[in-house]
Amino acid sequence: MPLQTGCLSPCHGFTGIVEQWKASTHFATFIANLGGEEVDTWTGTAGCGNCHSIDGIQQRLEGNVRYLGTTAPVNIAHGQINYLNSTTSKVSESTYAGHATVAVVHCTTCHEVTDANDPHRTGKAYEPGSFPLRVPTGDTEEAFIEKSSAVGVVDGTGAGPYGVGNACMWCHKSRKDVTNYITASNALTSRNWGPHQGPQTDIYTGKGGYHYTGKTYDNSSHQALKTGCVACHMGPVGSNEGIGNHSFAPQVATCAQAGCHASATSFDVLGRQTAMKNTLRQLRDALNTKGWLTAAEAAPYDALTPAQVTDANFKNDGSRPSGTPLTASEAGALYNYLLIARGGAGGVHNPLYTMQLMFDSYVAVTGAPPSTMPTRPTP
Ligand code: HEC
Ligand code: HEC
Ligand code: HEC
Ligand code: HEC
Repeated sequence: MPLQTGCLSPCHGFTGIVEQWKASTHFATFIANLGGEEVDTWTGTAGCGNCHSIDGIQQRLEGNVRYLGTTAPVNIAHGQINYLNSTTSKVSESTYAGHATVAVVHCTTCHEVTDANDPHRTGKAYEPGSFPLRVPTGDTEEAFIEKSSAVGVVDGTGAGPYGVGNACMWCHKSRKDVTNYITASNALTSRNWGPHQGPQTDIYTGKGGYHYTGKTYDNSSHQALKTGCVACHMGPVGSNEGIGNHSFAPQVATCAQAGCHASATSFDVLGRQTAMKNTLRQLRDALNTKGWLTAAEAAPYDALTPAQVTDANFKNDGSRPSGTPLTASEAGALYNYLLIARGGAGGVHNPLYTMQLMFDSYVAVTGAPPSTMPTRPTP
């Protein structure tokens, strides 16, 4: 049956929402892993399904996660997934309790689609504003990252109210409670030590890094964007009823809008991204010299080669299992490096905060400032 004109806009047109979404990693990863072993891990009873399965957000909003002991994540209604295991008194991550067999970030993962608003079921045309997000997006609603207010407490940290941007923050965060994660002695027992992939909210909010004692941390102007992630990653598409771009890929045109970076021709505005990446390489070099980084996926987990120290594949770097435990400030430096490396934006998400974290971490490991940033940046 041919598509009726009512279906074309804004969803099923040639460049409509569905095609945009199909161009996104949210969909591409699903295709790449269809029937693969990842799907079982991502939808099984580990914590992965809370973000990787099709109904992860819905389950979490219903409070349907698994935890041991008697204390559920206290801010589960705001996306917190860590909790205090009342039996062991340890910080743990609640696990997925749904039954999905599909690992994908789909329309229904983010949107509440019901008999009343689904055009496929109502038979009526789409009405603007009829596709609400699942997570709370009101003026005072905020998502939570896992970082807690004090050692021994597992209360998370509010990311700040970012409206529709809250929708991204439920998943794109470190999963680690850095306050409790980093202790006086930190054994690197696994390549996966440190923040999970995609910890953008921890950086964006200027709250989720390892903060050194006696230092203050500042935000850049990007933190004032009212819809956070959505402001840059879902710019309005004029030809599609002005609805945000569902490829979720940031567009240079969004940066270049009036009042922002009017002359931007790339994400490397004023060469600042290049500069931040160069400092990140220095921090990487220092950590690698200590023997704490690897790009290898399997034992013996070789240290980075000189070529790997200078390349741009920061996301491939993992922690290198090592015999000697790290002190808190050393582990904090490694944690901050991985947070920035895995966040992927080369400092764009919060330039000032990223620079301060890099500066303090480099000093903590080497005792001197990085040559590319001789003084600690201030607002
Ligand atoms: C709090 C949400 C969250 C949880 C829980 C979570 N992930 Fe992820 N994961 C993400 C996000 C977001 C990304 C995308 C990161 C990026 O590309 O920037 C990701 C990416 C990944 C990737 C690499 C990219 C890919 O899609 O191929 C792997 C592998 C992965 N996760 C495995 C796991 C496993 C295994 C678990 C459970 C032990 C898990 N994740 C739990 C949010 C989560
Ligand atoms: C990762 C989360 C996410 C996914 C997946 C997603 N959306 Fe959205 N969608 C959003 C956000 C956030 C907005 C609000 C953006 C804005 O304000 O422009 C939005 C806005 C919309 C709107 C306009 C708002 C309204 O109430 O009418 C429609 C329609 C829509 N999405 C449809 C879809 C469809 C269809 C799919 C699947 C092909 C989809 N979305 C997948 C996050 C998502
Ligand atoms: C349900 C959890 C979830 C939500 C909600 C979510 N994401 Fe993702 N995102 C992921 C995962 C997981 C991946 C990795 C690919 C995959 O497995 O789908 C990813 C990948 C991405 C990527 C590609 C990263 C890369 O390395 O190529 C971008 C960009 C992205 N997400 C942006 C967003 C934005 C913007 C929002 C909010 C509108 C959002 N995401 C909401 C889980 C989520
Ligand atoms: C000020 C604009 C801006 C805001 C706000 C923003 N981003 Fe980004 N983000 C970017 C740009 C630009 C890039 C790409 C940088 C590049 O490719 O060099 C990016 C990259 C990413 C990537 C891809 C990383 C990769 O390795 O490809 C993900 C995922 C992501 N952002 C998620 C988020 C999330 C989640 C939020 C909210 C917590 C957010 N972003 C807020 C501009 C922004």
